[in-house]
Amino acid sequence: MMHYFDTVIVGSGLAGLRAAIEASKSGSVAVLSKLYPTRSHSTAAQGGIGAALGNEEPDKPEWHIYDTVKGGDYLADQDAVEVMCGDAVRTIVELEHLGVPFSRTPEGKIAQRRFGGHTREFGAAAVRRACYSADRTGHAILFALYEQSERQGVHFFPEFHVLDIEVENSRCFGLVALDIRTGEIHTFNAKATLIASGGFGKVYKTTSNALASTGDCLGILFRAGIPLEDMEFFQFHPTGLYGLGILITEGARGEGGILVNGKGERFMERYAPTIKDLAPRDMVSRAVITEVREGRGIRGGDYVHLDLTRIRREILEERLPEITTFCRIYMGIDPSEAPIPVLPTAHYAMGGIPTDLDGRVLEDEKGSVVAGLYAAGECACVSVHGANRLGCNSLLDTVVFGRRAGTAIGASLKSAEKGEVSGEGIARAKQELDCILTGEGREHAASLRDELQKIMMERCSVFRNERELRQLVEEIRVLKERASKAGITDRGRRFNTELLEAVELGHLLALSEVICLSALERTESRGAHYREDFPERDDRTWLRHTLASQTEKGVEVRYKPVAITRFQPEERKY
Ligand code: FUM
Repeated sequence: MMHYFDTVIVGSGLAGLRAAIEASKSGSVAVLSKLYPTRSHSTAAQGGIGAALGNEEPDKPEWHIYDTVKGGDYLADQDAVEVMCGDAVRTIVELEHLGVPFSRTPEGKIAQRRFGGHTREFGAAAVRRACYSADRTGHAILFALYEQSERQGVHFFPEFHVLDIEVENSRCFGLVALDIRTGEIHTFNAKATLIASGGFGKVYKTTSNALASTGDCLGILFRAGIPLEDMEFFQFHPTGLYGLGILITEGARGEGGILVNGKGERFMERYAPTIKDLAPRDMVSRAVITEVREGRGIRGGDYVHLDLTRIRREILEERLPEITTFCRIYMGIDPSEAPIPVLPTAHYAMGGIPTDLDGRVLEDEKGSVVAGLYAAGECACVSVHGANRLGCNSLLDTVVFGRRAGTAIGASLKSAEKGEVSGEGIARAKQELDCILTGEGREHAASLRDELQKIMMERCSVFRNERELRQLVEEIRVLKERASKAGITDRGRRFNTELLEAVELGHLLALSEVICLSALERTESRGAHYREDFPERDDRTWLRHTLASQTEKGVEVRYKPVAITRFQPEERKY
């Protein structure tokens, strides 16, 4: 089936919906999603969205910019950080007007709480900067944006799985997708295509990410020759529920919770004496794993405790109801009475599809634009988060850069050429499915995926080293070979989740290889990328962004400079 829209957007999370609202002011918009839109992974964002409103104590956008740059270990492009933090206050007011029910102070202002790495006066002390809706902030914003998109007449295509995005001669023409329900192939021809498909945490075994976060569109664009930027930087959130990886919001520490080791010590006092448990996530995750490795886990085991018993029960129930429920359901723990077992969980990709400040996709280190192709949100790398994202900055990123991409698309539509996906793109998509559906091998995608997630977790997570990364790359290549010969038991076309898992596995394998090769090349430690064999940050050699591309010879890694405007790199102390 053929469709013609001015704009086609992949992903119905915050970035996709915010862009859709804007682009639909200038033309027709289709939004495709693997899921029902309000089940997008943005709904899992708990603790807040950052903006220097100063509602609870003095704050300034300048301090927010500084924290974001320092939190990102100086790899963020500072022009992009200035845009994001500079637009934060307006964004929150706009969200409120769009219908987001933010929590309130007793005087009726938008309430704010502390979050990791957010400080006043350039690092002097933690500041209340996170605006929140209890601990369901992503959910609250997603539902408001969905309602506004419906109001604007956006066309939704739920349960559509993208198979191919056609990019030829630096121009995008649209995409090909599978209607999961019927098994039919649909072609979406568009003047502008925006990728807002979220992250790919499912490369790891333990993750806070939803099942759908498999990075399909990044895999497709990488295959089409678009480079991927800074893929070695993958954030581990320090407080995943032990054994499950489910997120326990940093807001819990923002409300007064503390991390405790097996000796009963508040160990973050040693690692970050000024802001302690509210240090950036890369530092806290390393500290947790170090405590465990050195035998100071709880009862000598491989986890630590997040102690919320110091927070009054009414506060837990009012401000942190979601995580309180998670602890009761999944661990049988009442967090007002007992500490919560936690361990770092794969949470967020700082890297992704390179874009400019208006979401235009860049195809090389010179900044050449792919006409008609845009990206925003976690799948994109603009780069505002550098080597480590601060909590609350991801929701802000999605809404600020989603809106900017939507505005840029709207402005481009009058002069943009009509897109027409060629027969080749459709044939490629059909062939990919046919190849999987006729596979006779004994191995299946799900077990190969489990193996991949396990080895990625063991060798390319919070700590890395050359020997293990090299071994991992070899193992991923073997898995790729095995995946190409895998088999399938369900050969039907309708709602064939086994087929979709096989498609997703191809992307997970490709992205894992890129993560590892980019990590192998970067012989320094910066933000979330910590090399045990190169423990220092090396600005002379490595203050630059990685760009990994698929070439005929394999993955090629190139580099481009970091934009530095006002903050020169300095030692990162907290
Ligand atoms: O801890 C959290 O609530 C996560 C927030 C974020 O990733 O920004």
